[in-house]
Amino acid sequence: MQRESVAVVTGSSSGNGFETSLLLAKNRFYTYATMRKLEKSARIKEIAKKDSLPIEVLQLDVTDDKSVTDAIDVISNRQGRIDVLVNNAGYEQHGPVEELSMEEIKTQFETNFFGAVRVMKAVLPMMRKQRSGTIVNVSSIGGKIGVPLNSAYVGSKFALEGFSESMKYELEGFGIKVILIEPGAVNTNYLENSRQAQKAMNPDSPYAELSKMVSEGVRERFKETSSSCPMQVAEVILTAIKSDKPNTRYLVGNDAIAINERRKSSSDSELERWIKEGLLEQKGFINK
Ligand SMILES: NC(=O)c1ccc[n+]([C@@H]2O[C@H](COP(=O)([O-])OP(=O)(O)OC[C@H]3O[C@@H](n4cnc5c(N)ncnc54)[C@H](OP(=O)(O)O)[C@@H]3O)[C@@H](O)[C@H]2O)c1
Repeated sequence: MQRESVAVVTGSSSGNGFETSLLLAKNRFYTYATMRKLEKSARIKEIAKKDSLPIEVLQLDVTDDKSVTDAIDVISNRQGRIDVLVNNAGYEQHGPVEELSMEEIKTQFETNFFGAVRVMKAVLPMMRKQRSGTIVNVSSIGGKIGVPLNSAYVGSKFALEGFSESMKYELEGFGIKVILIEPGAVNTNYLENSRQAQKAMNPDSPYAELSKMVSEGVRERFKETSSSCPMQVAEVILTAIKSDKPNTRYLVGNDAIAINERRKSSSDSELERWIKEGLLEQKGFINK
């Protein structure tokens, strides 16, 4: 009988990670649905039990060295291998650069970028020895295009993109694949979990009006019927993992596809004009 593949997913308490863990388990991956707060595990455990899915929940906070090594050690000791890592944990830090504290920017990178790096470094020795493995890094269409008041988040995802694209070359010879997933807006707990720069909350902030306009624009995008559901992200991740020769990048959602097309077909100045028209000019913040 064919051996069951072992998958590890970070940030499985909700949204994309939750659906990805369930979908992988339904597709015969023995899945470690990891999350930083085990008190959020009741729902996934209930579904796993009801549907007899091969899911185990483990505590893993991507910002904590010990939590990451402890979780990966448990998996290596129990399974002796890890076939798939889905680096999904993340959140969005909003705010104008001037009003973001260094702490807020570092915390953003600590989760979205260094968090993913930390887990990759923990699984790589095992994947290298077994001479196979797939690492899926959940980036964003924001990993390809700058948007106002989003420098910290976009910066963390650009970093993840460049890191993944580069490491791919050194890992190929060991049979390890690296894949980027680039969703547009997805209806998860993402907006509720996003953080606002503390200083920008002050109504006297010179950026208060801009912040209000941009956040209204973002909320509208999430309301649009074109935004994706987390199951779509999970399905794209599964397709990528199952592919013998996966693409480097997979877009998810019509909005991500449209933005990517626009990015490919535009010069920098054309792209900047398009972003301004979409997010700022309509609201009268800047003159045409
Ligand atoms: N939703 C979108 O529109 C969208 C678009 C593009 C990319 N993405 C990316 O998709 C990924 C998942 O986001 P989502 O949309 O599913 O949002 P979500 O519902 O807010 O889920 C985020 C997950 O990340 C976890 N997390 C945050 N910090 C963590 C840490 N230090 N250690 C471990 N887990 C941590 C959260 O855990 P807690 O429950 O403990 O907070 C939660 O499980 C993120 O990387 C995000 O950037 C989302």
